[in-house]
Amino acid sequence: MKAVIFDLDGVIVSTDHLHYLAWKKITDQEHISFNEEVNHLLRGLSREASLEVILKQTDKTFTLEEKNDLIMLKNQYYLESIASLSPDDLLEGIPELLGLLKDKGYKVAIGSSSKNATYILKQIGLLDFFDAISDGNNIIHSKPDPEVFLKAADMVGVAPEACVVVEDAKVGIEAAKKAGMKAYAVGDALNSDIKDGTLLDLMLSL
Ligand code: BG6
Ligand code: MG
Repeated sequence: MKAVIFDLDGVIVSTDHLHYLAWKKITDQEHISFNEEVNHLLRGLSREASLEVILKQTDKTFTLEEKNDLIMLKNQYYLESIASLSPDDLLEGIPELLGLLKDKGYKVAIGSSSKNATYILKQIGLLDFFDAISDGNNIIHSKPDPEVFLKAADMVGVAPEACVVVEDAKVGIEAAKKAGMKAYAVGDALNSDIKDGTLLDLMLSL
């Protein structure tokens, strides 16, 4: 193992509920049914893919332009909510793990579906910490496609087989495995049958 690629939302910082509240405003405005259970299905998916999942709850049809407007408005609401994120919002154990990885000379990268990754990293004080940031802005295919992780590996100059991934989304675990990387789970991804271990297993292996 030479590099560790971290998913951002749900691994480094908890933004699930903020995504939920922003989508909820949209779905309430559009009279579409939406709840935490449906929100669960959006973990790891791009904005566009998320909206498609949400729209399965309604018979209403939307043009591409209308869909883009909804996505933009959702992001506006979401950005307002993440403006107050701070280093205090780092998930438990993350500062210690990141410090240990750096001390031991591993490359560390972000592999996130979010187009807000840079902004979030800035808010939580980690923008300069990572050796590479691969996110929703430099990929065409969203997780479970391996693209975001393969790009991260390429950015840090490490072969995929020497990279491991930390993920909270089942689609992220799938993406890591497709990239030929070991996948360590936190949160919802602990339910994945194809994970290689948990975050604790990764920590104990260092
Ligand atoms: C992922 C989240 O990290 O990023 C998803 O798990 C989200 O819920 C996706 O839809 C895209 O995020 P953003 O910030 O570009 O809307
Ligand atoms: Mg995540």
